[in-house]
Amino acid sequence: MLEDTQLVWARDPAEGYIQGRITEIGTKEFEVTPIDRKYPKRTCSYDDIHSSCDGPQDHDDNCELMLLNEATFLDNLKTRYYKDKIYTYVANILIAVNPYREIKEIYAPDTIKKYNGRSLGELPPHVFAIADKAIRDMRVYKLSQSIIVSGESGAGKTESTKYLLKFLCYSHDSAGPIETKILDANPVLEAFGNAKTTRNNNSSRFGKFIEVHYDAKCQVVGGYISHYLLEKSRICTQSAEERNYHVFYMLLAGAPQQLRDKLNLGKPDDYRYLSGCTQYFANAKTEQLIPGSQKSKNHQQKGPLKDPIIDDYQHFHNLDKALGRLGLSDVEKLGIYSLVAAVLHLGNIAFEEIPDDVRGGCQVSEASEHSLTITSGLLGVDQTELRTALVSRVMQSKGGGFKGTVIMVPLKIYEASNARDALAKAIYSRLFDRIVGLINQSIPFQASNFYIGVLDIAGFEYFTVNSFEQFCINYCNEKLQKFFNDNILKNEQELYKREGLNVPEITFTDNQDIIELIEAKSNGIFTLLDEESKLPKPSPSHFTAEVHKSWASHYRLGLPRSSRLKAHRTLRDEEGFLVRHFAGAVCYNTEQFIEKNNDALHASLEGLMQECENPLLRTLFPSGSSTSIRGKLNFISVGSKFKTQLGELMEKLEQNGTNFIRCIKPNSKMIDRQFEGSLALAQLKCSGTISVLELMEHGYPSRVLFADLYNMYKSVLPPELVSLPARTFCEAMFQSLNLSAKDFKFGITKVFFRPGKFVEFDRIMRSDPENMLAIVAKVKKWLIRSRWVKSALGALCVIKLRNRIIYRNKCVLMAQRIARGFLARKQHRPRYQGIGKINKIRTNTLKTIEIANGLKMGRDEIVGGVNDIYRQIDDAIKTIKLTPRITQREIDSMYTVVMANMNKLTVDLNTKLKEQQQADEQERLRKIQEALEAERAAKEAEEHRQREEAENKRLKVEMETRRKHAEAQRLRQEEEDRRAALALQEQLQKEAKDDAKYRQQLEQERRDHELALRLASESNGQVEDSPPVIRNGINDASPMGSNKLISFSQVVSNIASRYLNKSDNVRAQQQALGKQKYDLSKWKYSELRDAINTSCDIELLEACRQEFHRRLKVYHAWKAKNRKRTTMDENERAPRSVMEAAFKQPPTVQPIQQIVTAQHRYFRIPFMRANAPDNTKRGLWYAHFDGQWIARQMELHADKPPILLVAGTDDMQMCELSLEETGLTRKRGAEILEHEFNREWERNGGKAYKNLGVRPNGPHPAAAGMQKQQ
Ligand SMILES: Nc1ncnc2c1ncn2[C@@H]1O[C@H](COP(=O)(O)OP(=O)(O)O)[C@@H](O)[C@H]1O
Ligand SMILES: [Mg+2]
Repeated sequence: MLEDTQLVWARDPAEGYIQGRITEIGTKEFEVTPIDRKYPKRTCSYDDIHSSCDGPQDHDDNCELMLLNEATFLDNLKTRYYKDKIYTYVANILIAVNPYREIKEIYAPDTIKKYNGRSLGELPPHVFAIADKAIRDMRVYKLSQSIIVSGESGAGKTESTKYLLKFLCYSHDSAGPIETKILDANPVLEAFGNAKTTRNNNSSRFGKFIEVHYDAKCQVVGGYISHYLLEKSRICTQSAEERNYHVFYMLLAGAPQQLRDKLNLGKPDDYRYLSGCTQYFANAKTEQLIPGSQKSKNHQQKGPLKDPIIDDYQHFHNLDKALGRLGLSDVEKLGIYSLVAAVLHLGNIAFEEIPDDVRGGCQVSEASEHSLTITSGLLGVDQTELRTALVSRVMQSKGGGFKGTVIMVPLKIYEASNARDALAKAIYSRLFDRIVGLINQSIPFQASNFYIGVLDIAGFEYFTVNSFEQFCINYCNEKLQKFFNDNILKNEQELYKREGLNVPEITFTDNQDIIELIEAKSNGIFTLLDEESKLPKPSPSHFTAEVHKSWASHYRLGLPRSSRLKAHRTLRDEEGFLVRHFAGAVCYNTEQFIEKNNDALHASLEGLMQECENPLLRTLFPSGSSTSIRGKLNFISVGSKFKTQLGELMEKLEQNGTNFIRCIKPNSKMIDRQFEGSLALAQLKCSGTISVLELMEHGYPSRVLFADLYNMYKSVLPPELVSLPARTFCEAMFQSLNLSAKDFKFGITKVFFRPGKFVEFDRIMRSDPENMLAIVAKVKKWLIRSRWVKSALGALCVIKLRNRIIYRNKCVLMAQRIARGFLARKQHRPRYQGIGKINKIRTNTLKTIEIANGLKMGRDEIVGGVNDIYRQIDDAIKTIKLTPRITQREIDSMYTVVMANMNKLTVDLNTKLKEQQQADEQERLRKIQEALEAERAAKEAEEHRQREEAENKRLKVEMETRRKHAEAQRLRQEEEDRRAALALQEQLQKEAKDDAKYRQQLEQERRDHELALRLASESNGQVEDSPPVIRNGINDASPMGSNKLISFSQVVSNIASRYLNKSDNVRAQQQALGKQKYDLSKWKYSELRDAINTSCDIELLEACRQEFHRRLKVYHAWKAKNRKRTTMDENERAPRSVMEAAFKQPPTVQPIQQIVTAQHRYFRIPFMRANAPDNTKRGLWYAHFDGQWIARQMELHADKPPILLVAGTDDMQMCELSLEETGLTRKRGAEILEHEFNREWERNGGKAYKNLGVRPNGPHPAAAGMQKQQ
């Protein structure tokens, strides 16, 4: 706890820290009353208060501070600064505070000599000490070295670099010609690369790494300068109070008249590119030397700018000489000056709109024609060509026209101005590259062994508006910071190792994630920027959005509105991004990122420069390098160029030994003797020096050589202690003072303290004499005790030795015992283990037998196999038991044999088991299958039966309707017939009468004829040879008419019809036939038969069939008439009922169309045989009609075999009536279904019926039957 009297440092916004005392303790903060009454009281949080040492501190190395914190550190710097001790160390890092004034003798040649070859720390801190350390490390470690000088603008980097180079070049003897050249490089570089800014009158606007190369003897052999990121925007515009590069003013102020005329030079305010500030730097003397006509109005009013080391007039002459020393001729120098002047004149070319131009182009303004002339003269280009190249752009057409056609696109005013500025930037920056090249040429080296490189590059930067330049430089600083962290940490840890401190590895926050954010290959900010540039229409807002999108959740990247600065918070999300750098968050405005990332000239300007007549300029624009040739997609951006350069630099730094110089700017006014604490503190933080200090806090930051510590206190020590050697003294002191072992560590040469512990030690040492006496007493006691302890330890060691010998003896015995046991086990282990293993097989066989018992087949085989194995096991065990020296291999082979047999048996068993299982399974499956099959069949049959039943039912119903319909028709027909019959009857009766009369006459005539014949024979007289013919009574209109003869068939027919008493029917039929198409009455029987067999005419065929059956009928009628009465029944071709029905049946004529729709119908009629015995009387008659005619018929009698008849074979015995005639269709219950008929037919031995329907091509089977009959 801090006490009231304790001095502390409290945070102050201006001073950094001020000293005071704690006067109040709050819950979260303390109240501090400053010692200096001019500061008010304040309350500060714990973190902003640090303890303070008593009295002023002044240490060369901040690590020597007893209290290690940023406040004491800052105080140490400040104290020393006011004592003109501008250099301080933090470990090996040199802190250099810019004095802004010349400190006497500090860089004098004598000082150089003084520092030459002296160890770091031997002399007060100095930039020379660092340079010397680098040389010595190079020599000792045979390793190139780098010195990294960093700090913000105006902190003194460039000056420090100059002193370093001076030391490097002068340290051995005096500088030779090469060294002089290396030193001469500086004024040249500064003339072209430095400018006045608000922060530094001589601000370097580029970074550089100057290498001084040495040979094996460490003699300087040459040098090489690499440069980075020249600020190009400054060439065309500068902020207020800032100037363009020095060389422009130097030329205007110092060029002799002759040169001025050649270059057409005026005064600074004549040039637009010098508008930021037009004053020269001059001292009283040179101010006089510059004629008034060369000074701007502003200069004349305000007088010259003043700086101790800058003088434009003087420096022009210095530059001219330095260029000469670098080996440039007057002509070459003139070439350089011409280009510098050309840039100035180029800047004065202005543009104006072309009146009445519709294409929006512009032209060089009237007023700047003169500048155009001068510029083209200086550049060595044709004035018209320059004019055209400035106001238009060349484009090669892609589509339309001939590919590659060149088109001149006119530029708008602002585009032309941009092109002009781009040209100026390109000329100047390439000139700068050339100058650096020239310097390098002048300090060449064939071979070098090592080099010392000094890096002077801008430190971390942040402004209100930060653009691409800040982004690049801060990226560079991130890389350097990472390098610094890695390096310092490594060195520190190496020291701990060297001193044997055994300190655990110290880790620290890494800034690798920021570096990744910027340079990652896939989506780093540089990559995103390059990708944006390759788009057809790149836009800053799209680029910014991409950055935010790619790194949305990255801690190190934020939106501008997350900035703590109000000015940044006004930026919209797509206008910028915030990067949390190691030194603090910086908000970047992305508006010009894309433009600044691309330094390409447009093609026409580039081409013009390549072909100019100015030899220097032409070499600056070698052909083939143009971006317009490489194309937009292949351009190398400024960012990626810088990234590559930096990568190479880092590689070099990593391979070298490193030394750091951190430059601190004490105030922003660039004045001496003013130390702004907070400004310095901020720089210390940014440079990472405070982090190193923090790092030290975890380690042992305070360290003193034993000898130094001893010397420090020698004067206050009593004689008893003074006589001790330094190391023993230190040991005795630390042990006896009861300092905690955690707080210090003894190294090999030094004692290291934890932060603040050194001061504790110091306080004790310097306490009052009484206390000192007590300490001395304690030390003496400690000394006696430690010596006694040492001798006691010696005795103990001897005893321990003896005990150890006894113990070892015991151990040897034990070792022997164990070895013997081991050997015996080794020999017999395979035997007993083998027996065990083999016996195990026997156990396994039990299971095998158990399983085998479950087998239905092959059980005995397995059991037999098991018994064999038992035998083998017994034999094997017996062999092992009887052979003590049996080898492992033999046992194993026996085991393997038994095991193989066992395995074979098991395989057998398994196969059998599997087979049995398979058989069982198959049987089970088969049964299931059968059951399923049966079930399915039953179901199908049932379904079939039901379907059939339903179908039968439907057909029966249909049949019944048909029958009823036919019946009704018949009744109607009968009625009609009856009436017709009555009429006919009457007529017939009359005819019959006539006929009888006629017959009587005929009889008379016949008799007359016979008589006449008899008479003639008697008298030989002649008589008509034919008897009187019987006239056809039916057709004869008049009985007494013509003597028409009737044929035999007609006779038959007549007789039959009479017999059948059906003359009316026949007549009707004949009438119908007469109406038919074909009159077949005259056809012969054989002709009918042929027609049935061969005709394709369906109608004819049917007509033939009808006629055929009609004739058959007549034949049967005739036959019936001539039959023996006794056998009548047997010869019936259909049941009597059918025949009778036919008799009753009035003749009907089948309409022709019925033929086509002819169908098969089936009937069943019971009949009775009148003359059969009772039990056999009954029978069944089956008929199958194919259309109108019978196809099959069958009689079933109880007493005799069934009679099966088929049309075509048995026609003569079959029913000759047409279906209509039979009247079967009208008989209730007579019709049956096809399958009913077929079932009965087949049951009685009938053959399956072939459909005999009317076939257009093919003989009717009836025809065949007819043939047979004949
Ligand atoms: N060691 C020094 N002694 C005297 N003046 C110095 C010293 N270092 C820097 N200065 C002054 O500070 C100015 C800026 O220093 P410079 O090295 O150019 O800064 P930086 O390169 O860091 O921007 C110099 O012009 C000089 O006036
Ligand atoms: Mg500088």
